[in-house]
Amino acid sequence: MLASFQHPATKTPFKTSLRGSTQIGRMRYPPLLFNIIDDVFSCGRLSNDHKTPRTLIEGLSVFDHVSATFDQQIGGCLRRAMFAYQARQASSCLATFESRPVTKLLQNGSTNAMNVQITDKDRFEQTPYSMWLQTEILHTLQRTVSDHPGEYSFIVNCQVMELYWALIVRELQAAQSSLRQNDLAQAQQALRRVVDAHEPLNATWRSLSWLTPSDLLPMLGAAGATLGRDTALQGWTYRHMVYLFGIKQVEHLEHFRPQPRRWQQLNEALNAPSVYDDVLAFLHRENLPIPRSQFERDFAQPYKPSPEVERAWQIGYDERPEIKNLGETLADIAEEFTTWKYRHLMLTRRTLGSRKAYFGVSGIEWLTPTLEEIPFPELFSARTFIGDPPAGCPVGKAKE
Ligand code: HEM
Repeated sequence: MLASFQHPATKTPFKTSLRGSTQIGRMRYPPLLFNIIDDVFSCGRLSNDHKTPRTLIEGLSVFDHVSATFDQQIGGCLRRAMFAYQARQASSCLATFESRPVTKLLQNGSTNAMNVQITDKDRFEQTPYSMWLQTEILHTLQRTVSDHPGEYSFIVNCQVMELYWALIVRELQAAQSSLRQNDLAQAQQALRRVVDAHEPLNATWRSLSWLTPSDLLPMLGAAGATLGRDTALQGWTYRHMVYLFGIKQVEHLEHFRPQPRRWQQLNEALNAPSVYDDVLAFLHRENLPIPRSQFERDFAQPYKPSPEVERAWQIGYDERPEIKNLGETLADIAEEFTTWKYRHLMLTRRTLGSRKAYFGVSGIEWLTPTLEEIPFPELFSARTFIGDPPAGCPVGKAKE
């Protein structure tokens, strides 16, 4: 079967065959499709220069045009192919941006703008504001797949959560590096920022509370038909954060097989110390009685709580204000993280009821037990022993 197509920029007619398709991941695509899309990218109007944001944006708008031009028969297949192609193309464009000074500034987190050489290309039809915050790229990233008026809101809120998780991952890594240098003050600052980031992160649920089943289901249907079956378990920023919290569940790696770079990143995080491992090693160096076996272990294995660590926290809380402070910051993080999960569960109740989800069981059934996966476990169990109940206190001593 042949499908006709007119090149959007040069107006040259094309025909593409659906026979002899190409396998990418689990999808098959017509062989000529990529050539055509490649050609669109390298045609005269766009040039083959993908180095400027303007070209990237134009490239993306031409993809939309191509999508509208193709006939219905291959529409679904083309859209999936374009998403796959776009992801590839966008990552190579972004790789080009990564070598540019402005992006380097952002990546290094440097605040010393004097060290940055801005080229004429950086100034290409942009203001300093848009160059610094990369707004031209940012606002091309909300690509809806349905005609539901709320899908933009859904995507923006999910992307906001994604950004906060990426931020939290960086802060947790910064805290680890400070703890390894025995710099508790710096570690505390990074961990406080993790607590603070949860305030807007958790507030995104409010911004999604308009969702009902009749809103969510058509959007999920369109996403499934366009991109394939998805689950939020495929989100690598969230999983990286959870591994850094010390909740190490190897089975979640499976979702990243189609995304080898992220699989690798998560596999490294799985096998590396979590923030809690670093905290325990720090407490040990601070002469609190933490057994080595609690932080010199196979980090890919789930952490096993121990009474010795409970005892160490008890001493820290009773005798060392700076350790108590650290413990309270971690407890805040654990509480905020659990709040995110609780609000997610409530939205699942509101939008799915008892409908079955990705694993064939109801979403509520799958999610409810995860509320018990609370990071830094001894920080909570030790409270059974912290503090001395005075006579008459209705709560007794732990071991009476
Ligand atoms: C809008 C309604 C939503 C429903 C009905 C829903 C439902 C579910 C369900 C049933 C799961 C379990 C795995 C699965 O079956 O796929 C899950 C997991 C998850 N969802 Fe959602 N979800 C919603 C919104 C969101 C949003 C907006 C985000 C943020 C981007 C999100 C992030 C996650 C994450 C990170 C997991 C993994 C949780 C874990 O491992 O503990 N979900 N969701």
